[in-house]
Amino acid sequence: MASVVSDVPFLGALPKQVDVYEVGPRDGLQNELRTLSTPDKARLIAALVGAGLRRVEVSSFVSPRWIPQLADAEKLLGLLPRSPNVSFTALVPNIKGLERAQAAKLAEAAVFLSVTESHSKKNINKSVAEAVAAAREVAQAATEAGMRVRCYLSTVWGCPYEGLTPVQRVVDVVGQLKDIGFYQLSLGDTIGVGTPTQTAQIVRRVSELVPLSQLALHLHDTRGTALANALVGLSLGITTFDSSIGGLGGCPYAPGAAGNLATEDLVFMLHGMGIETGIDLPRLVEAGELAQELIGRKLPGKYLQAALGEREKQASRAREPASSQKEA
Ligand code: HMG
Ligand code: MG
Repeated sequence: MASVVSDVPFLGALPKQVDVYEVGPRDGLQNELRTLSTPDKARLIAALVGAGLRRVEVSSFVSPRWIPQLADAEKLLGLLPRSPNVSFTALVPNIKGLERAQAAKLAEAAVFLSVTESHSKKNINKSVAEAVAAAREVAQAATEAGMRVRCYLSTVWGCPYEGLTPVQRVVDVVGQLKDIGFYQLSLGDTIGVGTPTQTAQIVRRVSELVPLSQLALHLHDTRGTALANALVGLSLGITTFDSSIGGLGGCPYAPGAAGNLATEDLVFMLHGMGIETGIDLPRLVEAGELAQELIGRKLPGKYLQAALGEREKQASRAREPASSQKEA
């Protein structure tokens, strides 16, 4: 992987390019009180693809009783135009979900499990051991059907029910999972409690089992540390980051989980550091504005709010009569 040498010694050599994996339509919308209509979800996804995102998690093939907001996954995939340059994916908890994903012609499935027992039970009604077995079963069947498999690990930094997660617990679960056949393992700070030194420790220990090139970070920004943790991951060689338009996101079975790292905040930082993403930031802001409109509230993304505020200021200056502009 080509790299740019930063002149900040502790950052070391940084990647020249980063892969941004958009989770807003899934992680974001699963947690909203307002369920968007299927055509509105399709509009939002089209805006994200239009901004240059090439990997978008569009929904979940989970039980509609557990996540009613995403009950229209099949209908949504029926509305989305497909292109060989864009990869759509969705969460798949079991064989039933995989059959639904296959019928919807998805080429990629995302299996997901937690490293802590209480969150696992609350989120998917399984112990961690049962969840590892289910992920293995789904991954094997998906691979045989020619699909790619991504794997999420939740509560890696901390658990809403058990507190701080010992890194050895993470290493143990990764050890049980590493041969199930995923192309990428995304490590989740589900409730956004991670700090940079903890992130460094997790990345170092997990990368002894799974190569850095196969790791991604999925950082929620509940306490404002997501971007700092992403920077640490970047400096250690992580090149894929999950993020969500406008900072939408959360897990309904993890109380206190707030939005993901906002895609615009991540892209702004990366571009500013000379790292390419293939994403058009002004068009991403337009997608964020659309997300706000559809959801009906101001989203937490900082870059989004700064860009919209700046635009509003310029528009009001343009509306002022020329005489008062001169006086000012
Ligand atoms: P269960 O109730 O134990 O399932 O739920 P079951 O196998 O006993 O089946 C019960 C009923 O659900 C049956 O229907 C099944 O057919 C149906 P009935 O016979 O009663 O009419 N069912 C399904 N229906 C549609 N699609 C399916 C499916 N499976 C069963 N795939 C289950 C177990 C796993 C299904 C449930 O707990 C579930 O769907 N959980 C999903 C929870 C979820 O999506 N949470 C949020 C995503 S995780 C997250 O956000 C974290 C992440 O972002 C990373 C991070 O931040 O850390 C990824
Ligand atoms: Mg999440």
